[in-house]
Formats: sequence, structure tokens, C-alpha cells
Amino acid sequence: MSTVQAHYDQLLGSVYTWMAGGFAAAVARNQQLLDSLGLASWPRGLAVDLGCGSGFQTLPLAEAGYQVVGLDLCAPLLAELRTHTGHLPIRTVCDDLTHFPKHLDAAPTLIVCMGDTLTHLPFLESLTSLFHDAARSLAPGGRLVLGFRDLATHELKGSQRFIPVRSEPDQIFTCFLDYHPDHVEVNDLLHARVDGQWKFSASSYRKLRLDATRVSTLLAAAGLSVEHASTEQGLVRIVAVKNR
Ligand SMILES: C[S@@+](CC[C@H](N)C(=O)[O-])C[C@H]1O[C@@H](n2cnc3c(N)ncnc32)[C@H](O)[C@@H]1O
Repeated sequence: MSTVQAHYDQLLGSVYTWMAGGFAAAVARNQQLLDSLGLASWPRGLAVDLGCGSGFQTLPLAEAGYQVVGLDLCAPLLAELRTHTGHLPIRTVCDDLTHFPKHLDAAPTLIVCMGDTLTHLPFLESLTSLFHDAARSLAPGGRLVLGFRDLATHELKGSQRFIPVRSEPDQIFTCFLDYHPDHVEVNDLLHARVDGQWKFSASSYRKLRLDATRVSTLLAAAGLSVEHASTEQGLVRIVAVKNR
């Protein structure tokens, strides 16, 4: 099994945006999601996008009036994001997201960690320290917004664990999941037709098994108040606020 960074650098980064249905569609979905969580009423200022990837949340936040710092370990995804930024106030940083405080020169009014990035952290303790750093860094009244897949509540069995993610005539992406007590091993399989020949690549990485209750408890322990927590079709959304 590879590290998260090796997995993205060697396999997932090059097809990530395609796998998610393309940049424009993914940005539009995230715009809608942020709107439904209350984006219009949140104070503007500095936003930090933890594990921003190619920018599915970064772009809507910058377009909504935030200055955005996007952190990610995958340099090709950050390069892809920069092709979309134009004159928007977006700064990209290639670093581990847990180091985010050292890249800030002002207190953020918003920190987001969405699109299942949170489950990529290695241990539950990594979340504890991330949430404490977020609570310390945020401006009073600032928010931490999380979006991740609940891999803890339901376990797929047998052939359900094989997930056809996206198929096109020249590229097929399939994923299968191996469940362990505290994590899931995610195996990504890519078939790509190059010069008429099918080329196969496979790589795997770990995701934490998290759910809304466990994460909300950790947020409260870090001193953040959960103002919204919901799980819909296995997708968890949490908005936590730093009290004034
Ligand atoms: C599932 S993608 C989500 C990207 C984006 N937020 C979205 O919704 O499309 C997870 C991203 O987190 C990044 N990532 C995972 N662990 C990281 C870490 N410890 N530090 C920085 N980036 C990380 C990966 O490189 C990848 O781009």
C-alpha cells in the first residue's frame, strides 16, 4: 500500500478531475453544497482550503469574495488548479495540510476540509490536533467546514465492494474497498487505452473510518461548536464555529 502522496502522484492525481465528472460540474456541485450550508451569511476574509486538490471548493470560495490559501501535497493537482484561478485571489501551497498554520499571515474566517480529504489523515489523533490548530487559528466567529464519506456506519460486503467509478471508451476507473476495524484500504484500478493498447495501473491507500458523531465529539473537545451536522447517502457535512 502506498502513502497518500505516492498514490496521488502515481495514479489518482492524473485522473482525479476526470474521475469526479470534470472540473466545471464538480465546481458547480460544490458551489451548491456551500450555498446550502450557509455560505452567503458567513463573514468574508481569509479562507483556507485543506486538501484543495484541483480546486472544487477553492474556486467557489474565491468567487464568493474570500482570499483563499489552498494546501495540498499533490503538485500536479495544484498546477491544474492554477490554470483556473485567473485574477482570483488564490494562493496555492504544496505542503502537508496539518502544517497550515505556518502558511497564514492573518486569522482565517473560514477553514474548509471537504471532498473526503479528512479521511486521508493517518490517525484519529491527527484529527484531534488539526481541530485544535483550527480552533486556535480561526478568527472569533470563524467556521470550520468538513465534508467526508462515512466509512464507519455501513460496511459493503462481497462484490458490493467493487465500485465502477467512471467509464469512457478509452479510460475505465474502478475502485474496491477492504474494510479493517479503524480504516478502509482503498484500491484504485485504472485501465487506459494508449495507442490502441490497454494499460493497467493499480495503487492503494488508507482512509479512516469516521462518522458524524465521532468527528463532532472531537470538534467539541477542541472548543468548536457544531452548528450543523448531517449525513446524506453516506456523505457527512459538518459546520463548526469558533465562539466569539
Ligand atoms: C479526495 S481529494 C479532495 C480534493 C478536493 N477537496 C475536492 O473536493 O475535490 C483529497 C485531496 O487531499 C490531498 N491530501 C491528502 N492528505 C493530505 C495531506 N496530509 N496534506 C495535504 N494534502 C493532502 C490529496 O492530495 C488530494 O488532493
